[in-house]
Amino acid sequence: MRWLHRRGRRLAALASVVLTLPLLPATVSQAAAAPPAPAPYALVPRPVSQQAVAGKGFTLTPHTRIAVLSKTPAVVGVGSYLSRLLSPATGYTLPVVRDTRAQKNAVVLDPHGPKSLGAEGYTLSSGKNGVVVRAHGAEGLFRGVQTLRQLLPAAVESPTGQSRQWTVSPVRISDSPRYPYRGVMLDVARRFYPVSQIKRYIDQAAAYKINTLHLHLTDDQGWRIAIDAIPNLTKVGASTQSGFTGGTDWYYTAKEYKEIVAYAKSRFVTVVPEVDGPGHTQAALASVPGLNCDDKAKPPYSGFDVGISLYCMKDKQHTANMTRFLTTVIEAVAKLTPGPYIHLGGDETPQATPEQYAAYAKAATSATTTRHKTVMGWHQLGQATVPSGSLMQFWGEEDDRESIGTADETESIAFVRNGVAQGATFVMSPSDHAYLDMKYDVSTPYGLSWSGYVPVQKSYEWDPATSTAKPDGTGSIVPAGQIAGVEAALWADRAYEGSNELPTPNTHWPEPYVYSDYMSFPRLPAIAEVGWTPQSSRDWKNFRQRLAQQGPRWTAAGIGYYAAPGVPWPGTVTVVEGAHSVETGGKALDNPGGSTSDGTGLVVWGPNRGGNQTWTFTRQSDDTYTLTNKTSGKCAEVADGSTSAGATVVQRACDGSTGQRWKVTPLGADDEYTIASARSGLLLTAASATDGAQVIQQTDSGSALQRWTIG
Ligand code: ACM
Repeated sequence: MRWLHRRGRRLAALASVVLTLPLLPATVSQAAAAPPAPAPYALVPRPVSQQAVAGKGFTLTPHTRIAVLSKTPAVVGVGSYLSRLLSPATGYTLPVVRDTRAQKNAVVLDPHGPKSLGAEGYTLSSGKNGVVVRAHGAEGLFRGVQTLRQLLPAAVESPTGQSRQWTVSPVRISDSPRYPYRGVMLDVARRFYPVSQIKRYIDQAAAYKINTLHLHLTDDQGWRIAIDAIPNLTKVGASTQSGFTGGTDWYYTAKEYKEIVAYAKSRFVTVVPEVDGPGHTQAALASVPGLNCDDKAKPPYSGFDVGISLYCMKDKQHTANMTRFLTTVIEAVAKLTPGPYIHLGGDETPQATPEQYAAYAKAATSATTTRHKTVMGWHQLGQATVPSGSLMQFWGEEDDRESIGTADETESIAFVRNGVAQGATFVMSPSDHAYLDMKYDVSTPYGLSWSGYVPVQKSYEWDPATSTAKPDGTGSIVPAGQIAGVEAALWADRAYEGSNELPTPNTHWPEPYVYSDYMSFPRLPAIAEVGWTPQSSRDWKNFRQRLAQQGPRWTAAGIGYYAAPGVPWPGTVTVVEGAHSVETGGKALDNPGGSTSDGTGLVVWGPNRGGNQTWTFTRQSDDTYTLTNKTSGKCAEVADGSTSAGATVVQRACDGSTGQRWKVTPLGADDEYTIASARSGLLLTAASATDGAQVIQQTDSGSALQRWTIG
């Protein structure tokens, strides 16, 4: 959802990159294999602190009780939620009992923990007698229950009965979030999500401790919320989606919207409704003639363009029409919404003069504050006067960060500065990290790439504290104290199979949930961890191991996720069968001089694609590989089968020994791999990036000279 001219520029740049990239070898793929032993637990988001406890853990039985140490309905509700959550897979209907003390064979939910835990913090302790989750109130208990869920086997997520033991790993956890706002956005305007699919998404997000659901309710392609006083908004404005016309019920009635809000509340998720303007308003212009300068309704719009519409503000009369319209709509939406925020959009309105933009902001913000709601808006709203304490959502990208402090600071940065000066706080949704509609890579069937590809590693490796800082992390425009949190945004203007192209008659639109499953998993959990876990505890290598263990949970739950490369998903191995050049630091793994002798030490050298730099990867029964040099026919091995760091790597007649077997692990970004000796576990490492440098085995240091491309 960006300006076409901008999108065009980005696309042109990307297209040239794509064309010059070598095609992935057809043999690099993922295939089924025996699953490795699962880690006992692998929590996402990573808790602030966790300590393994000795013992086997607590096994649920049909007689386990959920003991709730309070009669507050919200707390009892968490108990019932847990009982219902566990029921389908276990087949147990665990009774929720009110009690005053911890007891055996129970999951105890204690809301009387210290205030210092905050609203969402909790402690969790599991041992052989049971589990105790303690928090300061119901919300923290609910977050703790999400952790408890991940301490059980993945099969607990199955909607059907599974016959097995249900043991909670023994652990002591103390946890609370880094940021109070951790959101997801669904673009229900471009693609209408039925209520049931929104509930499904709420459940998926809540499992990762997301606490806010932002619904992008209005755009050019559709108006999705019934407003009693203006029935045309849904009669006409809801009849389209991107790629669809003729709808009669592509909107939420007040009752349905309340149902969504109530469901979200039961998962401690706050709904933020967005009424976008003054641009992105064709659906409103198609429904209300007086919002147009010629007082004629525009045709409903089902296309894919951005930047096509604006409320008419050419004279007093039309500005008054808009103000009346916004007041009616925002008051109605505010009335249906118990949460504190109304999102007023404000993005992508280049046709608006500054005066017109200010008129929109004034009308929309007054209607919001009159209803005692807090204004939220895209960061462009910062160009106007906004009430202090408003929440701005930053969706800029690298270009913006690079411009900071230069003579050419982008408009976005100027708007952010203006928002900060007015006392706004910020939610960070940098499009090059947190936009879930960006493709993962060239193979992604849906979505766009105007902000580049966003592989899962990129969705994880960013820090909200530096989202509005220079690329080196300094000079953050939004001070740390004005950062409220993060939001992953799933736009739906390319929710069909068709790459960046506009749809063709054969283009396929999946059900919205298929699109959201694929684009959100695994990136949504990555962004959830960005918002929850302290920056100092976050590390991609550690995360991808934990993330991999979530895969079987999604499979059990029926979530159609993207098994992104670079994550060691159980049951998959990377296949790199065939002849390859193996490179690091701009140099290739080389059998010097094409030696045919045993014991010749391998080196790195400028790539030449010669036989002495060509290595055939042959998969072994243990999913490792031998690497055979094309010129010599000999295998790469650690000299003398050494298990010491620093030992050299040589070639020797192939004999299938573990010293000649290598484990190949993708790193995710840029098609890089580590290559570890199956014997020592140490990584194939170039001693330096100069011609003739030795190749050795070393402990994993994260060095660039341990990251190999296999081309
Ligand atoms: C946006 O992507 N236009 C907020």
